[in-house]
Order: sequence, then structure tokens, then C-alpha cells
Amino acid sequence: MPRAAASGIEGAQMTDTLRCAIVGTGAIAHAHASAIAAYPHAQLVAVTDLSQESATAFAEKHGPAEVYDDLGGLLAAARPDVVHVCTPPAAHRDQAIAALRAGAHVVVEKPPAPSLEELDDMRAAAREAERELVVVFQQRTGTAAAHVKRLLDDGAFGRPLIAQCQTLWYRDPAYFAVPWRGKWETEGGGTTLGHGIHQIDLLAYLLGDWESVQAQLWRLDRETQTEDASTATIAFANGAVASVVTSAVSPREISSIRIDTQRATITVEHLYGHGHENWSITPAPGHEAEAAEWALPETEERSGHEPLIREVFDALRAGAPVPAIVTEPARSFEVVAAIYASAAAGGAVVTPDVLAAHPTHRRSFASPVADRR
Ligand SMILES: NC(=O)c1ccc[n+]([C@@H]2O[C@H](COP(=O)([O-])OP(=O)(O)OC[C@H]3O[C@@H](n4cnc5c(N)ncnc54)[C@H](O)[C@@H]3O)[C@@H](O)[C@H]2O)c1
Repeated sequence: MPRAAASGIEGAQMTDTLRCAIVGTGAIAHAHASAIAAYPHAQLVAVTDLSQESATAFAEKHGPAEVYDDLGGLLAAARPDVVHVCTPPAAHRDQAIAALRAGAHVVVEKPPAPSLEELDDMRAAAREAERELVVVFQQRTGTAAAHVKRLLDDGAFGRPLIAQCQTLWYRDPAYFAVPWRGKWETEGGGTTLGHGIHQIDLLAYLLGDWESVQAQLWRLDRETQTEDASTATIAFANGAVASVVTSAVSPREISSIRIDTQRATITVEHLYGHGHENWSITPAPGHEAEAAEWALPETEERSGHEPLIREVFDALRAGAPVPAIVTEPARSFEVVAAIYASAAAGGAVVTPDVLAAHPTHRRSFASPVADRR
């Protein structure tokens, strides 16, 4: 079956302007509506949410857009070209599949689903419908990440050797009190799946395929069924080894990646998004002369939903393959699944083969958590 991109978007409903709909009009939906508004050939035409009040207020703020009682009614009546799925993860599969079968491309928030099996179902539905399934991992975007990735891929920095990846965030008890959060059944996982996945995705975007994961899950302070911290070691196929710490209990918050290569140390330190000021490239002794060639480009664009959605929309309108910032939608999700699978097995080594044949962790990430409160 050809990828949807190969067939372009020439369906009966497709027009030069992408008609977009949003399901789930909570916090992150605003970033999608702003990105749609910023794109010259897209228009928000329809929204729906379990809360009619939320959907109506959202449509008033970002519209004009029709408000529908449910996604089925929206798909039948509005026939959107693109559906943005901004609901909690447990709803992603069914909503994405319904939208794909109705002929829409889908832009779904991270994590793409609560389990690998559900993501498989969504990807299969996209292939069958010859439509794109785009997962939002916006940390891959921005001119600095593109620059560093190109230099790493070109071998300019030599081999990547050792890396650190930290997501040290602070979520107070009230955050975990929201009904769908902190539960395996509705959120799918804890801070590793909900928060750490962003930096893990950027790390894997820069370093490529993973080879093995060893991890542990911790419950350090919060009232949650899932973990509020995790620690992991990831070995990548290119030889690099990364130490990954994710926490929801860290008062001085930071998201960071550091990669030591044969010729340089590359770091990015930020919180929810990065510009050029967040990145640094330090040459190894003897490689100072090359540093000038590694300088970040003069034109800067920060990471975010807007560049991701713009590049995706450009590809959809051109009938071109989707950009690298949204390819490999399953890779970081698999690393996260491997973290849960390893922790469930007492810190055992999990490889892609082990994960592919795993008896439980393709279906659910539910795992025992070491409670240290
Ligand atoms: N990319 C990012 O930086 C980022 C940031 C925050 C959240 N997210 C992701 O976005 C998604 C939503 O998170 P949020 O923080 O916006 O949550 P939220 O609770 O603020 O909003 C979710 C909305 O979905 C609605 N909803 C729930 N189930 C529904 C259903 N079955 N049908 C229709 N509407 C439904 C809720 O009423 C609510 O309005 C999650 O997957 C989350 O991980 C991504």
C-alpha cells in the first residue's frame, strides 16, 4: 500500500485551503488553532469536545467554526481535510481511525496512543485510507535542531559517544488530581510517557535507532498510580549511550540534552521550547577551527507547533512526503515502552526484538513502580 503522501490529498473534499477540525478543545488545542490561523492556506472550520461549553468558548475565540456534539457528527457534516486530535491519549485511537476512514489526514498529539498496539491500529488505518497520520513531537522543530541534526548526520562531529537527556519538571499534587491523569488506564503511563517523551523523542531524532534500554520506575512523592520519576540507560545503534532521567517532582525545572561526540559537546537547555540561545556547540581540543563551520544559521525559528504544522500542511498541499520532523512516529514511543517493559522486569535489558514480541507491554505500559514515599 503506498504511503498517503505519495497519493497527495486530491480527494473529493480537498481544496487549496485545508479545512481543519479539532477534537478536544482543552489546553493544547489552542496551540493547534494558533498554528492553523498562522498558515495562509488553512482554516479552522469545526470543533467538538465532550464539554459543549469548552467547544463553544473555543470556537468563539478561534473561529468562526461550527461546534458539533460529537466527532461522528462533525466528520459527516463538515468533511474536514485535517482532523487535529487533542484529546487525552485513551481517546486517540478511535478518534484518529474514525477521522482517517472519513478521508481526513490526522494530526494527533503526543503520546500518539496509550499503547503500541493502538498506535499500530492507527498506522494501519492511515495506510488503508491513504491518508497521513502525523504525531506531534514539536521538539524536533526549529532551525537549531535542524542544523545540529544535519551536522550529526553528515559526520561533522565524528561519532556520538555519550549523552544525557533530562526532563526535570514540577507538577504539583493538583495536576495529578485531574481524573484522567496518573492512571495506567486513561493516561497510559506516568511522567516518562507524558513528559519525558518530548526530550527522548528529540534525543532519538538526533541519534537514530535504539538498540537496548534498561530502566527503573519510581514513585517519589506524588499521589499517582503511575511513576513520578524514571531513570534509564539507552544504547543507540550508532554506538552512543544515553543516560535518561525524567521527573515530575523537580522544583528547578529544565529540559536538556547533552551529546558528547568525538569532536564536540552539543547541548540544548530549555523548558518547553528552544531557540538558538538554548543551544551550544563546544569543540573538543584540537577542533576549534571547525567550530566556525558549526555556527548556528543566522535566521532563527524557535521550536513549536507552528513550524511543525506549517511544514506538514505544506507537504499535504503539495502531495509530498511528510517532513523528517514527523517521520518515525513510533520510535520514541517504543523507547518509552521499552523503559516500562524494562522496569517491569526489574531493570532487564530490553531490545527492539524483545519489545516486538513482548507478552504485555505492546498492549499496556502498566508496570510495578518502586514506591519510596
Ligand atoms: N505537544 C505538547 O507540548 C503537549 C502539551 C500538553 C498536552 N499535550 C497532549 O495533548 C493531549 C491533550 O492534553 P491537554 O493538556 O490539552 O488536556 P486537557 O484536559 O486540557 O484537554 C483535553 C480536552 O479533551 C476533551 N475530551 C476528553 N475526552 C474526549 C472525547 N472522548 N471526545 C471529545 N473530547 C474529549 C476534554 O473535555 C478536554 O477539553 C494529551 O495527549 C497530552 O499529552 C501535548
